[in-house]
Amino acid sequence: MTDHPMDNIPVRGLRFDFNAVKPDDFVWSQSCPEFSIFINALGVHVPYFEKFLVQTMRTYRDALDEPQLLDDVRRIIGQESHHAFNFKQWNQAMRQRYPKVAGFEQASRRHFDDLLKSKDKRSCVGFTAGYETFTFLGGMIILGRYEQLMGRANPTLRALWVWHQVEEVEHGAVAFDFYKAFYRNQEGYRRFKVVHAFLHISWQTFKAYAHMLQIEGYYRHPLRALRGWRFFLSFSFDLARAALPVFARDYHPRLHPICNGSQSEIAVAWRAYTENGGNPQRLDQNNMDQMLTHA
Ligand SMILES: [Fe+2]
Ligand SMILES: [Fe+2]
Repeated sequence: MTDHPMDNIPVRGLRFDFNAVKPDDFVWSQSCPEFSIFINALGVHVPYFEKFLVQTMRTYRDALDEPQLLDDVRRIIGQESHHAFNFKQWNQAMRQRYPKVAGFEQASRRHFDDLLKSKDKRSCVGFTAGYETFTFLGGMIILGRYEQLMGRANPTLRALWVWHQVEEVEHGAVAFDFYKAFYRNQEGYRRFKVVHAFLHISWQTFKAYAHMLQIEGYYRHPLRALRGWRFFLSFSFDLARAALPVFARDYHPRLHPICNGSQSEIAVAWRAYTENGGNPQRLDQNNMDQMLTHA
């Protein structure tokens, strides 16, 4: 077993089957329905960022001279390519339930294409590092609250998000190291890009979440609407608060307090389950029980 959650970055070519997800299943967590809407909403723009990360790293990696970092970059490219493939498939399924998803996707695709075309290396590398701050922190927060957020949930969607969050933590230092390899002393710009990425993620999630709450009937009852938006605000607040250590001068993701206590029980169990031949593409209650008792 690894000592630090960022010690290993295996590329796992998983494919999830969303064909069986029925209209009632889009709000896929019974433990916390608002979480499933929130993460569905957040996930709409994610594959377009992931493709942007892959393009940015492919474009600039040849200038790196550290073999370990080059290998890590190859691995993050592998992991993110598989994420993007599966999230696009899930978006395609969500389009049937949420009419505005296709438009949100189109806008995100255009946004990241434009950013790449601007050919401003520092801006692309900096945004990638800023954004990856929150995928790693979100990964730790969600895995830490596994039972509360998705203890009872659709087996395929739970499997998708556990996989994604585990891998985001595994490669959580690579985009930071990539930025530092080029701009070691440009700490002010790195911090600025952390804030920029947070605002980008929040705005993209806000738009999709508002739409999804409406489709799911949250606005028909003031208390449900309140519950929906309370979840959004409290999760965003927790994510922002978790990012405070990121602004320290000597910060490095591996040193962040969130990943230096005890390791996430779910992440440890999931890695062992996957390494021992368990199928991580569908996790029903029996699979989860089996996974956690053998951990
Ligand atoms: Fe990802
Ligand atoms: Fe990532």
